[in-house]
Amino acid sequence: MANWKLNPQGEAQAIKLARSADKKGVVVCPPFPFLRAVGRTIKRAALGAQDTFWEEKGAYTGEVSPTMLKGMGVKYVIVGHSERRQWLGENDQMINKKVLAAQRAGLKVVLCVGEPLKARRKGLKAAMKFVERQLEEDLRKVKANSIIIAYEPIWAIGTGRPDNPKESAQMAEFIKLFVSEYGCEAKVLYGGSVTAKNIGRIMEYNVIDGVLVGGASLKSGEFGKIIRKATHAGR
Ligand code: PGA
Repeated sequence: MANWKLNPQGEAQAIKLARSADKKGVVVCPPFPFLRAVGRTIKRAALGAQDTFWEEKGAYTGEVSPTMLKGMGVKYVIVGHSERRQWLGENDQMINKKVLAAQRAGLKVVLCVGEPLKARRKGLKAAMKFVERQLEEDLRKVKANSIIIAYEPIWAIGTGRPDNPKESAQMAEFIKLFVSEYGCEAKVLYGGSVTAKNIGRIMEYNVIDGVLVGGASLKSGEFGKIIRKATHAGR
């Protein structure tokens, strides 16, 4: 899954990047203004959005509803990315409303969770406690049969310092178990400084179902290698 964040700067570049990422099993998440153009460009990949609002209509300046996204051919939506939690003040209550609204509109939700460095310094158990609380609040009243959770330790995002894959796998197992208690099945993606070099080690663990790639998804050669290696790993 490619999360382009606030990139690239123009539509022509977005189309070029989309062409190179257009492979089966890939989800491309461009900024809102490029959704239409990217949606028209891709033939094999699926279209994703980086965020959505929880209301369907009304006086909410600047917001975009899940149904509007659906109407543009969007299949997946990222909810609760740590950058939105950090820079836009999104809290778990808001994220919960977004999850519910997106599912109601028929979008596949990719819910991002992950602990800050302060929690992880205390060990994996403390990180699990942090993630458990996020899941509890973000999934309140959620009744879907399946959901995608992206485990993204905050300190690993954009830092070139990925998590130890064995510990990510333990976290993925923990997340799957937690979500199964809701009668829901979770696929777990790992995100945080994924590159062509480290994806092999991440995908060695079958409990990790895929990756959410930020920085490296903006370099078509690098992202191409990541796709090949993920496909090779059977995912
Ligand atoms: P990164 O970002 O691959 O640049 O670390 C991942 C993400 O934020 O989804």
